[in-house]
Amino acid sequence: MMEDGRITIFDTTLRDGEQSPGCSMNQQEKLRLAQQLDRLGVDVIEAGFPIASDGDCEAVQEIATVIRRPIIAGLARACRTDIERAWEALKPAARPRIHVFLATSDIHLQYKLRMTREQCLAQARDAVRLAKSFCEDVEFSPEDATRTDVGFLCQVLEAVVEAGATTLNIPDTVGFTVPSEFAELITTIRKNVRGIENVTISAHCHNDLGLAVANALAAVGAGARQIECTINGIGERAGNASLEEIVMTMRVRPDRYPYETGIASQQLFPASQMLSEITGVPVQPNKAITGRNAFAHEAGIHQDGVLKNPLTYEIMTPISVGVPDSKLVLGKHSGRHALAMRCEQLGYQFDRRALDDVYRRFVHLADKIKHVEDHHLLELIRETHKPAASAAAAADALPAILASRRAERSPAFQVAVDTNPFGVPMPVASEHHHEQDDYLWGV
Ligand code: KIV
Ligand code: ZN
Repeated sequence: MMEDGRITIFDTTLRDGEQSPGCSMNQQEKLRLAQQLDRLGVDVIEAGFPIASDGDCEAVQEIATVIRRPIIAGLARACRTDIERAWEALKPAARPRIHVFLATSDIHLQYKLRMTREQCLAQARDAVRLAKSFCEDVEFSPEDATRTDVGFLCQVLEAVVEAGATTLNIPDTVGFTVPSEFAELITTIRKNVRGIENVTISAHCHNDLGLAVANALAAVGAGARQIECTINGIGERAGNASLEEIVMTMRVRPDRYPYETGIASQQLFPASQMLSEITGVPVQPNKAITGRNAFAHEAGIHQDGVLKNPLTYEIMTPISVGVPDSKLVLGKHSGRHALAMRCEQLGYQFDRRALDDVYRRFVHLADKIKHVEDHHLLELIRETHKPAASAAAAADALPAILASRRAERSPAFQVAVDTNPFGVPMPVASEHHHEQDDYLWGV
């Protein structure tokens, strides 16, 4: 693969993703997810918006201190207070990046910022210069780029390249563009912005028309080499381009998308599950790649075909995206290794001591119930991580807790011991099951 075919995956789950309703995370949760993003192999983690709150600033600082491989980015508006705050938070990072943004469309300039194009141009240039005085790696985003006059957009981009920007991110802030148009925009920028060959062009697409992934891939086809995306596609309003969909499109269709990423695709499902577990927001069942139905086959003809040869109805294997192979049944004869592997697939990594702790409780539970299913294991992990006093009784109490939770649910819903044709555990369908049930299945 040519060097030119390497796509930088910029994950913004912890920043734009966190802006989705109900998806805010505390500092500890952000760090846990950042560690999973590191395992997943993303190139850049946008850890937050440090000026937004003290909590966000501290979270960015902690992630910058702890996570050493990927670039850690922090967002800042194009003004001194934001940029200084962002740098304060990013300073400990091995590879810091300041991400400065300023809206450039007339709609935003007139109604939101109340400034002229000239003022916008000067502010963008000054802000990037300031950021550059702190940090070598500076990204600039002209917010609402896809509704900005193209001539003015190119003028601003040229000014910020001159001021030292190293990545130019082109946001489709309101999810308005379509693939052919977005590709044309990237081509126009490449033709008209002086110095563009020395910087990376990035695409940041929102999903208001359901086109975020298609638009991001079109941008790559036109020369963008960074994609900004989120796990499960979470983000403002209809969300951002989904990381897992972008990565797997490139993996499954290299004939059309001959690009490489550094993503370890088997970590996709664990990342999706961890995010869902942390935020309490279930993954849509038919979500591509990570939804519970993504590898489920209901129709008899499909089941028959898949049992004869999965290639008949599957374009990728569940294993390739980390969907657990539940042929591996967990029971009282299972060892630590199998338990550790299943915990990892569910998004939990334990050191030796913590694993011993979970294992002891697991064996105790397995003595009482025949097969320990994923939902049992998750209950057990959660109970184990409660304060010491309640943890001591966790394994003993678990069968009773599970029984009472089952009773609380709609009587038509039960967590099944059944698996789909690929060994993926399936819930027994009910006429009505609420979101919490989806969530329980999801994790
Ligand atoms: O959608 C957007 O315009 C953004 C910018 C801050 C990059 O999220
Ligand atoms: Zn955005």
